[in-house]
Amino acid sequence: MQKPQKPASPPVPGGPARRVCIITFGCQMNEADSRDIAAAFGRRGYTLTDDLKKADAVVVNTCTVRQRAEDKAISQIGRLRKWKLAKPEGKLFIVGCAAQKLGGKAIKSRFPFVDEVSGAKAIEYFEDALAAQLGPAPEIGYPDSTLFRSPQSAYVTIMRGCSLKCSYCIVPAVRGPAVFLPAAAILKDAAAKIKAGAKEIVLLGQTVNAWRGGKATFSELLKKVLALPGLERLRFMSPHPLYFDDAFTALLAAEPKLSRYLHLPVQSGSDRILKAMRRGYTRGQYLALLERLRAAVPGLAVSTDFIVGYPGETEADFEETLSLLREGRFSMAFCFKYSPRSDNPAMVSHLDEPAMEARLERLLSAVKKNSRVILNERIGKIEEVLFETDTYGRTSGNFGCRVKTGGAPGRMAQVFIEGAERNTLNGKVL
Ligand code: 5AD
Ligand code: SF4
Repeated sequence: MQKPQKPASPPVPGGPARRVCIITFGCQMNEADSRDIAAAFGRRGYTLTDDLKKADAVVVNTCTVRQRAEDKAISQIGRLRKWKLAKPEGKLFIVGCAAQKLGGKAIKSRFPFVDEVSGAKAIEYFEDALAAQLGPAPEIGYPDSTLFRSPQSAYVTIMRGCSLKCSYCIVPAVRGPAVFLPAAAILKDAAAKIKAGAKEIVLLGQTVNAWRGGKATFSELLKKVLALPGLERLRFMSPHPLYFDDAFTALLAAEPKLSRYLHLPVQSGSDRILKAMRRGYTRGQYLALLERLRAAVPGLAVSTDFIVGYPGETEADFEETLSLLREGRFSMAFCFKYSPRSDNPAMVSHLDEPAMEARLERLLSAVKKNSRVILNERIGKIEEVLFETDTYGRTSGNFGCRVKTGGAPGRMAQVFIEGAERNTLNGKVL
């Protein structure tokens, strides 16, 4: 594995090194944007720091998917008042989905110490926002892939926004309708990241498998990425059940470099609630899709998202969610309390906080038990592990796996699974 190189010395000869602290909330899309933002700072000679006291610039990349996420981002901005007072020449940037939703004006009037607001839709223009505050990137060309680079796994955004209309979701409003990046740009980005040391590429998009490039389909794009020399594993997230086809199932069965793991959000086990959510599929259709995929790829690991307490969700609806958790054999499920994201009073949950919390707790405890059963099924099997450290890596099914010896960052190895502890497998490199 290549070690991340240090960027060249800062632009002012003999001047002090400059550092940026990037605080990221929310999903992988935001994580990917933060890496691009880091690269834009890298082009100006900055290095990354987690220590606010040492930071010359701070970026808060915000999320608004649930009210709690937005509140967290806002209180983070509030806490930065102190930093700005101590370092008035420091630059503070607010970016991402909450920035998009609330708007630059509102954020700056509430937090006048903020220098620049750049919403999620404007992320492509972050370079301009940065140039406005710090000047254009110098010609000397700092290597731009050195910051925020996880050596073995890199994100490649293939689409932005979302064109579906799930009733609970704010993403289409803040990120806009789906826009697909051209295949050539995606392949260039992936190839550059592989050259910079990535072994695994994770393709990202809100409905990632909806991707189209003219007549080219998502599966055709996958084939092209899989053909890039040096790539060891390809993942993508998050797909939507509506966009799977037979070509994808056949490709998954034929191509071992495609990760044996899908994160496939289902949201509810009740047809009534799925309909109200405008998800576009029934419980039966979702389960039939899982069955088709697993018939083609035995042992395929699937994780999901659930929302509890959606307006009108009865005890019977909720029990259908609990039973879907078992039937779907999910390796993991992320569970959220419904959070109203519009001013429409009909969209407020009928459940009070304790009732909502009680459902969440019941679901979480079922998830814990269920995940344990699925994890234990891997004991005694041989798994392909991509190592992140000398002793820890992830299997193709995205289970964490620990070994005593034989791993190395970026190394792919066959591991015999001997046991499981909490959420992690343990085994021996073969
Ligand atoms: N309330 C609760 N959870 C939500 N999610 C999206 N919008 C909401 C909301 N309004 C969850 C969904 C989605 C995940 C990223 O966040 O489960 O898959
Ligand atoms: Fe990601 Fe949605 Fe949150 Fe934006 S609002 S950061 S797209 S989860």
